[in-house]
Amino acid sequence: MSESTKNSSMNSDLHHPSAETVDAALIKDYETLYRRSITDREGFWAEEASKLDWFQKWDKVLDDSKKPFFKWFSGGKINIIQNAIDRHLKTWRRNKLAIIWEGEPGDVKTFSYHALNREVSKFANVLKSMGVKKGEIVTIYMPQIPELMFAMLACAKIGAAHSVVYGGFSVEALAARIEDAKSRVVVTADGGWRRGKINDLKSIANDAIKRSPTVEVCICVRRTGHDVYMENDRDFWYHDLMGLPIANPNCPTEVMDSEDMLFILYTSGTTGKPKGLLHTHGGYAVYTSTTHRYVFDIKDEDRWWCAADPGWITGHSYMVYSPLINGATLMMYEGAPNHPYPNRWWQIVEKYGINILYTSPTAIRGLMRFGEAWPKRHDLSSLRLLGSVGEPINPEAWRWYHRVIGQERCPIMDTWWQTETGGFMVTPLPITPLKPGSATKPFFGIEIGVVDEHGKEVKRGEEGKLVIKSPWPGMARTIYGDADRYVETYWKEYEKQGWYKAGDSARIDEDGYLWVIGRIDDVIKVSGYRLGTAEIESALITHPAVSEAAAIGLPHEVKGNAIHAYVILRSKFTPGKELEEELKEQVVKEIGPIARPEAITFMDVLPKTRSGKIMRRVLKARAQGLNEGDISTLEE
Ligand code: WT7
Repeated sequence: MSESTKNSSMNSDLHHPSAETVDAALIKDYETLYRRSITDREGFWAEEASKLDWFQKWDKVLDDSKKPFFKWFSGGKINIIQNAIDRHLKTWRRNKLAIIWEGEPGDVKTFSYHALNREVSKFANVLKSMGVKKGEIVTIYMPQIPELMFAMLACAKIGAAHSVVYGGFSVEALAARIEDAKSRVVVTADGGWRRGKINDLKSIANDAIKRSPTVEVCICVRRTGHDVYMENDRDFWYHDLMGLPIANPNCPTEVMDSEDMLFILYTSGTTGKPKGLLHTHGGYAVYTSTTHRYVFDIKDEDRWWCAADPGWITGHSYMVYSPLINGATLMMYEGAPNHPYPNRWWQIVEKYGINILYTSPTAIRGLMRFGEAWPKRHDLSSLRLLGSVGEPINPEAWRWYHRVIGQERCPIMDTWWQTETGGFMVTPLPITPLKPGSATKPFFGIEIGVVDEHGKEVKRGEEGKLVIKSPWPGMARTIYGDADRYVETYWKEYEKQGWYKAGDSARIDEDGYLWVIGRIDDVIKVSGYRLGTAEIESALITHPAVSEAAAIGLPHEVKGNAIHAYVILRSKFTPGKELEEELKEQVVKEIGPIARPEAITFMDVLPKTRSGKIMRRVLKARAQGLNEGDISTLEE
C-alpha cells in the first residue's frame, strides 16, 4: 500500500467538493476556526462541551498539572447516556429511529430513541440486580446484534465500565482480557451469523470463563438458537432476565465525574500483553460528538452507517456513542459484506436510504474484487458522504470508492486516528479539497508534527515520526492497571517536548497534507485490525514443535498486510505442510481467525542482533527482495 505515499505531490489529482457539498457543510472555513481552536484551545473545547448536557458544569477545561495524565472538564458531572439517550427523550427525537438493525439472515429490528431507552434501562436494572456496581468492568463478547449496544449503554448508564472483546477473538485472547479487567460479569450470546455459519461465541466464552476465577455471572443472548452449554447458577438467558420484574424500564442515569471511566478497550502493542486503553465519560463524549458532527456534517435527517464492528474503537466511537449523542439514525448490520452475494452492502444502502457510509480500505478492496456490476445494480443516490479508516487507503481503492460507490458526488473522509485517540485526529472536512490517500489536515484543536528521533521537524515531504503536540479531550487517560506502560509507550520518547508518539511514520507535503505511511513499531495492520508481532510469536511458541518464531507483515492486495511467520523447530520435529497447517491453527486458537498467518517458513536460523533481538526488518527486506539496509549489528 506504499503506493499511496509515493503520490504525495500529485496535486493534479485534487478533488474539490461540489457546490452542493459546500452549501450543506456545517463548517465553511477550516483555516479560521482551526487557528482559533489552537490559539484558544480551551475556549474552543468549552464551547463544544456546552453543546452537551451536564449535571454540573466543569471547573477547569484542561488540567495539565499531572502531565501526561491530563484531565478534561474536571469538576464537571455528566453521564454519556444522559447525552446519547436521555436528553433526546424530551424532544421530538423520542420517536425518531435510533437504530436500524439487519441480521445476516435478513431479519430486521428497529428501535426509536424511546424504545432504545426502554431496552437499555431494563438491562441496566438487570445488571444492577446482578450486583454490578459503579466502577466495575463488565466484559462483553457478542456478535453485531442490538443487545451488544444495549449492554454497552446499560453499563455506562449505571456507571459501570465495559470492556468489549471483539467476537472474532478466541479463548486465550478473551480469557486474558477478562483476567486483566477482573470482570465478575460477562455478557455474551449463543452465537452470531457469519457467512451463513454460526460463530459459536458461547462455547468460546465457556472455555474462557473456566480460566477466569473472577467471573460469577454470564448473561447469554439467544441469537442463533443452537444448543449451548449453560452452567447452573452462573449462566442466565438474557430474555429470561428481561422478562422478570427486576427488568424495570425506569432506571436513573448515574451522575458521573467527567473523568470517571467509561470503558476500556484492548489493543495490541509491542509486547505480547494487550493493553486496555481507558476512556472517560466527559472528554470522550465531547470529542467523539464534535468530530462526528463536523467531519460528517451530521444532520437530523441523516442515516449514518459505520460498517465497523463495535468490538473496535471505530465501533465504540462512531457506531455507538457519537451517532447517538448527535441524535442520528444509525445502521447496524450483523454479517459479512458478501453474503449471500457481494451486493449485500449496496442492497442495504438502497433499502434504508443510507446517506453516509464509513468503512475501511480493506472492505473496499474486498468488494472491489467482485467488480462494479454488483454496486451498479443498486440505487446509491442517497449517499452524500463516504468515510475511510484503519490504514492508509491506496489511491486505486480510493478512486473506485469515489467513482463507483460515491458516483463522483461524495467526498471521502479519510480519517486518521487510533484506539488511543478516541476520535478522528487528522481528517478532511466535507469542504476540504481531497488528495486520494491523504488524511489531509488536523482536526480542530489538534497539533501534529512529523519529526526525527530528536524531535526535530523533518523537511516538508520527508518521512518522519508522527507526533501529537498538545492534549485533546478524547485522549485515552491511561492503560488500565499499568500507568507506567502508558507513559513509557506514548510519552517517554518525546518527554522533553511533552508530545504524544503515535507509532506511525508519515510525511507532510508542501500543501500541509498528511500522508500516513504505516506503523513503525512491531504492530501489523491486517485488514485494518491491529496485531502485535509479539502476540503472534508467543502464540506460535506455545506449540511444542516451535523453539523460536518471528512474525512480520508483508503487503497483501486485499488485507493491506498479511502475516508471514518464520519458525525454528525443535530438533525432534520436521518441517512439512501438515505442521505448517497445525501452526496456523495454533495462532487461530490462541488469538483468533484474524491472526491466521498467510505463510509459515521453516528456518534454521533467524536474523538477530548480537544482543539476540530478532531483526524483523531484515526478514521483511529479504522476503520482498529488497536491500537489507544496515545489517552491521547482524549476528548470523
Ligand atoms: C492505527 C491505529 C482508528 C480506528 C481504527 C484503527 C492506522 C488508522 C488510518 C488512516 C492511515 C490509519 C494507523 C494507526 N490508521 N486510520 N485513515 N490512514 N492509517 O485503530 O486499531 O488503534 O489502529 O491504524 O497506523 O496508528 P487502531
